[in-house]
Amino acid sequence: MNVIKPTPPSTTAEEKRALLKKLLSEGTSQARSPRLRVDQPATSRSAAHEIPVEYYQFDQSAEYLNLRAQKQVADDLGIEYPFFKMIEPLKGATAIVNGRECVTYSSYNYIGMSGDPRVNRAVNDAVDRYGSSASASRMVAGERPIHKELERALADHLGTEDAIAFVTGYLTGVTTIGHLMKAGDLILHDSLIHNCSLVGAKLSGARMLSFPHNDVSALDDLLGEHRASHRRVLIVAEGVYSMDGDIADLPGMIELKHKYKTYLMVDEAHSIGVLGRSGRGIGEHFGVDPRSVDLWMGTLSKALGGCGGYIAGSGPLIDYLRHTAPGFVYSVGMPPPIAAASLEALAILRDEPSRLERLQAISSLFLERARARGLDTGLSRGTPIVPVMVRDSRRCGFLAQALYKRGINVQPIIFPAVEDHASRLRFFLTSLHTETQVTTTVDAVAQELGRILGRPTPGLD
Ligand SMILES: Cc1ncc(COP(=O)(O)O)c(C=O)c1O
Repeated sequence: MNVIKPTPPSTTAEEKRALLKKLLSEGTSQARSPRLRVDQPATSRSAAHEIPVEYYQFDQSAEYLNLRAQKQVADDLGIEYPFFKMIEPLKGATAIVNGRECVTYSSYNYIGMSGDPRVNRAVNDAVDRYGSSASASRMVAGERPIHKELERALADHLGTEDAIAFVTGYLTGVTTIGHLMKAGDLILHDSLIHNCSLVGAKLSGARMLSFPHNDVSALDDLLGEHRASHRRVLIVAEGVYSMDGDIADLPGMIELKHKYKTYLMVDEAHSIGVLGRSGRGIGEHFGVDPRSVDLWMGTLSKALGGCGGYIAGSGPLIDYLRHTAPGFVYSVGMPPPIAAASLEALAILRDEPSRLERLQAISSLFLERARARGLDTGLSRGTPIVPVMVRDSRRCGFLAQALYKRGINVQPIIFPAVEDHASRLRFFLTSLHTETQVTTTVDAVAQELGRILGRPTPGLD
């Protein structure tokens, strides 16, 4: 048996500090341990006594030291750590954030379904009827009527033959792409696609190529060059992009899908229940035939007040996923009370289209007001996602902190999540925000940013 002999912990506290300092000065570039010797296989029997401590002691691993270095960045910038804040929701769009009452712009509760009394009642009824868990895979333990009702309602909402619901949106992307595509296939994805699609694509073994964000003519070129040398091709895009709030060129992609005979998948995490007159998403927004997209993917955790994801599409596709997708077959079914939440949210969406009008109006108000105050809102086009570009991580952190002190909770997106010049505050609007909250917030952003830049804001300072 190959016994790995422990090496004495040769890294002193001083060496560790020096390493951390070095990592910090390198920013987020992957931490490379000075003792990493990739030319020597770590498992080699003869070299067992030389196995570096970072290979078997996690707190010494390059990955963990890299994380610590990244966490240190907030401290170095002199700002509060911006993640894992403690939030207690209050009324409307307000919450207690780390002990302070704030208007909050960091939740995806786009049309106020989470916390809605009708949704709460549906959840409680489902708990009484089904208990809290599905307790096993639906394939083996059997269906609950509520699962089928939800899937039927999703398919009807989207105008597809069928739909399948998974336990999370993330899992939906990973298992669907990872399972459907294979070596010999090609996945062409937007450069800003969500991590779940990337991970699914890697898992699939298919070739992956990225096209510049929302650039259909670059996609056309890539298809022209590569389509013929692959078996199946899947184009993956999103409805509304979560970092910039812009809308995908769906008609352009549909045209290419037909021209090159490919599959098309659209992740509607931020467009279902958001775009379109009745919240049917980007397809309704552009008035396209629902059959022109092969895989409509979405999440239930945002506009639809629950948790989980779905794929909606043709009967044969959904039948195949239901019987073979590993993340469905080998995983527990969605908790029935959560299925009940999203089922009720779909019913409310049908009954109360005014929520969408309100969301669309408040999002436009924020954007117009921000532009009028001279703020750089990047690519945002009136969706509920509005970035305010700061283009400097330190200033962005300071700005978020200054706003927090004024009772406004907004997430700074700073290096290393984005390049320093792309750092921004990212505002998520919901139908629960009021006009007063929006105008007060935009004015506060303009004023605080002006102060940080040493430029007084006309009419405010
Ligand atoms: C575009 C996109 N796809 C998928 C997901 C994953 O969805 P969920 O958080 O519901 O698992 C997210 C989450 O934010 C997302 O933004």
